[in-house]
Amino acid sequence: MNAFLELPEAKVLLDPGDLAPFLQDESHLRGVLPLAVVKPHGPRALRELVSRAKSEGFGLVPRGAGTGKAGGCLPTGRSVVVDFSEWPGEIQVSPQDLCLSAPASAPLREVKAAAEAQGFFYPPDPNSWESCALGGTLATNAGGPNACKYGMTRHWVLAVDALLEDGEVHTFGISSVKANAGPNLGQLLIGSEGLFGFIVGATLRLTPLPREFATLLLPVKRWEDLLDLPGRLCGAGYLPSAFEFFDPAVLAELRAHGPEEARRLPGEALAILEFDERGCTSEPFLEGLLDLLGPLADGLEIASDARQRQGIWAVRRMTSAFLKERHPKKVSEDIVVPRSRLREFFTGLDRLGIPAVTYGHLGDGNLHVNLLAAGEAEPTQLEQQLMDLFRLALSLGGTLSGEHGIGLAKRKAFLALADPAQLRALRAIKQALDPQNIFNPGKVL
Ligand code: MLT
Ligand code: ZN
Repeated sequence: MNAFLELPEAKVLLDPGDLAPFLQDESHLRGVLPLAVVKPHGPRALRELVSRAKSEGFGLVPRGAGTGKAGGCLPTGRSVVVDFSEWPGEIQVSPQDLCLSAPASAPLREVKAAAEAQGFFYPPDPNSWESCALGGTLATNAGGPNACKYGMTRHWVLAVDALLEDGEVHTFGISSVKANAGPNLGQLLIGSEGLFGFIVGATLRLTPLPREFATLLLPVKRWEDLLDLPGRLCGAGYLPSAFEFFDPAVLAELRAHGPEEARRLPGEALAILEFDERGCTSEPFLEGLLDLLGPLADGLEIASDARQRQGIWAVRRMTSAFLKERHPKKVSEDIVVPRSRLREFFTGLDRLGIPAVTYGHLGDGNLHVNLLAAGEAEPTQLEQQLMDLFRLALSLGGTLSGEHGIGLAKRKAFLALADPAQLRALRAIKQALDPQNIFNPGKVL
């Protein structure tokens, strides 16, 4: 009998047919067949897995719902996938502490709904928010449109429960925003992509639920006019809770081949802006805003009810899947440049002649640069184009990933472009926390 079948408190998959779905995530990469997929149901399973990984020399690869964009949960080498989808626990909201605790297995959708049911808001909203698991969002420090105002997942984490290399689950942090007794190990784990240990649960910060929304569809006459807008809005004291955009090429694709709602979209390029502070639908607020936006607009619309708001967001939320369906081999990047350098970035992209279309989170400078014809490019040419793209972002004070992480997809570029001091420090931490390299080996570092 296969030794994995004897694992306590776990479901084990061994059949190659059952393992096949675990070779993919939402990136363009594929993993190799793992030794097994284990769905732990309790701490004994984790203890045993860690002990066997050390003695038998295989890696442990964490997995949530498999919606990652960087191949971080794909098995490589001799490994066992540890799928946290059946990890036990409940979502518990604590209104008095303005926080919520949840297991890694909790769907993000349910985490957000549980907060909302009690009048609170948990802002992180990656594009996969309806299908991803909380654990994956913690491991990758997920972002999304709301990061523009509210920040990333890490800004909402008070404490994490994590499996470390001693085989035990430890808690770092408390249910309060104030906790300053030494450097924050919980934050080290957030966004670490499972390199230092696996997050099995967390305590998350909440904020009162916004109840007023001004959602604007802003088609612009001239695409370049959009590029200064995030900075101009901030300078004028407006902080959108989301500021998304489609460049002319993406807008043209949506208009020509997208869903019904997209076919009527005007403008050379398009932005979606949302504000959620109290008073954002008042006349003085909107008048001030329209003074700024009016001169650029080619027929601005303000959603007047929840249905219209949803309609606007539906088009944005389906863009990634829509482009993927039309260009199955596309490569989608998620570089960042500071808001103030957006114009320079697009000038640089033109100069490099990289055949890319772009959409995404203009409000925080996190741009989804999509190489639609990546499948037809020579691998070396594609690699060169991506390196040029990353170097351009870095030269403008940006970075090569804003929200998707490094995983497998950007590992080579990360190792080539990161500050050597950062790599040295990360390797030293890895060595200290995981001396036998059992946690997600071959990713990031
Ligand atoms: C999005 O914002 O649509 C996703 O993060 C981008 C992607 O799917 O590449
Ligand atoms: Zn995104």
